Amino acid sequence: MTQITLVEGDITQQEVDVVVNAANSSLLGGGGVDGAIHRKGGPEILADCRALRAGHYGKGLPTGRAVATTAGRLPARWVVHTVGPVYRAEEYEERAGLLASCYRESLRVSVELGARSMAFPAISAGIYGWPVEDAARIALTAVAEALADARGELEEVRFVLFGEATYETFEQVERELGQRS
Ligand code: APR
Repeated sequence: MTQITLVEGDITQQEVDVVVNAANSSLLGGGGVDGAIHRKGGPEILADCRALRAGHYGKGLPTGRAVATTAGRLPARWVVHTVGPVYRAEEYEERAGLLASCYRESLRVSVELGARSMAFPAISAGIYGWPVEDAARIALTAVAEALADARGELEEVRFVLFGEATYETFEQVERELGQRS
């Protein structure tokens, strides 16, 4: 049974097989989690991202999709980059589907890699403006549903929340969803 855990902290310090990056479609870095991962992980991650852009992802990584690279100097084996949707109330349904896809696709890629543990940030809940409570509900629901299908070797899916407010929101939503004992 794969454990879903919540921790408050910095995703670049998590000792897991896969760290999920809240990237943008360029795959060439940014702020927030993206900036932290590239800063701490070092140039090898960007080199892998450039190779992806020169190859299969010439036009960039589409929103809702996921792709793996080395984790460079991070205490992880891989970084799985995924591109969340920017929040836009007028297009809520379509974009909520894309956000759920980020979790599903990142899980699928990680299981294919043979990962036993993985860490997610709160995708789209920062610069991309998604309200944290709704982002948490989409995240926890998508991961629970995806784990019901293919869990492979995955023993732990860890949500790493930056700051107490985000952590408490995820904890509250997890309780509401009945996922927390
Ligand atoms: N560890 C864990 N979580 C973090 C960290 C960190 N080191 N740094 C930021 N966060 C949190 C934010 O507080 C937010 O809750 O990750 C969540 C996602 O925020 P962003 O990193 O801003 O990601 P997102 O909202 O998906 O926006 C993506 O921002 O950095 C750029 O290149 C990226 O264009 C893309 C956009």
